[in-house]
Amino acid sequence: MKVLVIGSGGREHALVWKLSQSPRVDKIFCAPGNAGISEIAECLDIKADDIDALLDFARYEWVDLTVVGPEAPLTAGIVDAFVREGRRIFGPDALGARLEGSKIFAKDFMRKYGIPTAEYRAFSSYMHAEEYVRLKGAPLVVKADGLAAGKGVFVAETVDEAISALRRIMKDRVFGDAGNKVVVEQCLKGEEASFMILTDGKTVVPLATSQDHKAVFDGDRGPNTGGMGAYSPAPVITEALESDIMQRVIKPLIKGLSKERINFRGVVYAGLMICDGRPYVLEFNCRFGDPEAQPVLMRLDSDLFDMLKATAEGRLRDVRVSWKNDASVCVVLASEGYPGPYEKGKVIRGLDALKDSKDVVVFHAGTSLNNGGIVTSGGRVLGVTASGRDIASAKDNAYRAVEKIHFDGMQYRKDIGDKAVRRQQAVTLERT
Ligand code: AMP
Ligand code: GLY
Repeated sequence: MKVLVIGSGGREHALVWKLSQSPRVDKIFCAPGNAGISEIAECLDIKADDIDALLDFARYEWVDLTVVGPEAPLTAGIVDAFVREGRRIFGPDALGARLEGSKIFAKDFMRKYGIPTAEYRAFSSYMHAEEYVRLKGAPLVVKADGLAAGKGVFVAETVDEAISALRRIMKDRVFGDAGNKVVVEQCLKGEEASFMILTDGKTVVPLATSQDHKAVFDGDRGPNTGGMGAYSPAPVITEALESDIMQRVIKPLIKGLSKERINFRGVVYAGLMICDGRPYVLEFNCRFGDPEAQPVLMRLDSDLFDMLKATAEGRLRDVRVSWKNDASVCVVLASEGYPGPYEKGKVIRGLDALKDSKDVVVFHAGTSLNNGGIVTSGGRVLGVTASGRDIASAKDNAYRAVEKIHFDGMQYRKDIGDKAVRRQQAVTLERT
């Protein structure tokens, strides 16, 4: 079978890596891919949001399954275009992708279907938004309505900070049209976790739990990024909490998708805040998390191709999914300056030393080939992902591998996994 994966990040490298292990997959294309992906797939010079060119390619090459990694082509309707032509594709239609593409759509959907989330108001007028902020007082969270690469959310500890966020979004228009409207919502305190499911609109298969690290610096300080590292499993999601999430969040979500006649054959990613043991949804994404996909797919035992194909065909109920009983940790190596402006073209050294490692995979994100060498070409450059018998040993393996890699200006968090280790230690202490 031929598979086309769309995207160029660490998530897509992890998808291609896992798909390439399936005995049913003969050939993988990736559009546009990156230097790491080009070692196991044929990379195409087609942009991830060039729907016409992607469809032409899938038609011409008789691609059996197209897997969409990032949100932009999904919100632009790539699934609708492929389905119209009877082509098999993994991902939600444009209406489903609005769960991620519009914070207001997602919040209204949650309100309509009783999914627990922070109290909120939506605004298209700066003046009314500012009035509301002054009335409510801090802390508050201000969110651009549209897509902003994970950077459109401001957790404001003071009224001034909230107003400055409103200004940046609505007046300075730093996110362009994505900031035509905003959501202002109650600030929730608790521990965050990511919960992803596969669904074909009828059946739900939960994926292994994971936890992201959004802030750029250790101790969750500094501005938010796309994600600086992740681990799986996330001990904050106990079995009891998982069934609570299925009951309170996933069940009403699936009911809502069906009521709204949304064709959702893909991944729903719920970004959760666990407050006093109860789940609240901060956001929905309509795709695998990045970097979460990296540690999660590393722990997958089953055949990813079978899972994604069955989802795209609406027969997910036929699939059994199993996970390795270990843990994995992914540390993102980023360019100096990220999530702000950064330089590209820095030579990456040390990758060869890790090629044959049994428990480490270095997933590429912003990398490209230059005169046979590999150089940086993005903010998040590599996702060094390691497995181990528990989070502590996976973390050791990951950081030992990180030490072997070098590029100018390389920055990374040193505390990926610490929260899980602390929690596991606390549980062990409770039991003794
Ligand atoms: P989002 O893209 O909506 O998940 O927001 C990005 C990040 O902002 C989240 O991962 C949280 O760290 C933070 N955040 C978003 N909404 C809230 C909220 N209502 N209360 C507290 N923190 C939030
Ligand atoms: N890591 C967060 C995201 O994929 O949205």
